Amino acid sequence: MEQNKILINKAKEVSKNAYAPYSKFKVGAAAEFESGNIYTGCNVENASYGLTVCAERNAISSAIASGEKTKLKKLAIFSPNQKKCVPCGACRQWLAEFACSSAEIILEGENEEIIVMTLEEIFPNAFSIN
Ligand code: THU
Repeated sequence: MEQNKILINKAKEVSKNAYAPYSKFKVGAAAEFESGNIYTGCNVENASYGLTVCAERNAISSAIASGEKTKLKKLAIFSPNQKKCVPCGACRQWLAEFACSSAEIILEGENEEIIVMTLEEIFPNAFSIN
């Protein structure tokens, strides 16, 4: 199976674990690094709404906690609630922190069509400290 489809399937699977009792909007993310390692995450909400953590950030945190040292290459996102579910602004900044320059965002559109965008396309001129 094509790698992008494999990642979407992993994002789909982990979206089932989302803890989203408030918004009822479930999200799953699968992050592939240059090492080949793949980490997943889902959104985790809180009664204090602003403390909610998005799926993308949980996937990246899992990578860092696991000791991942290479750059993020591909990030697939899936929501059963919305086709072509793109990362929020805060997550784009998080992705920019760990991504390689050609990092791809993989989404699912209508009829399970795979959509590939680059992070640079959706988040140009990211803030960073060199
Ligand atoms: N959410 C994500 O997990 N990722 C995003 O990029 C956008 C939003 C979650 C947060 C919240 O639990 C729910 O979707 C509705 O905003």
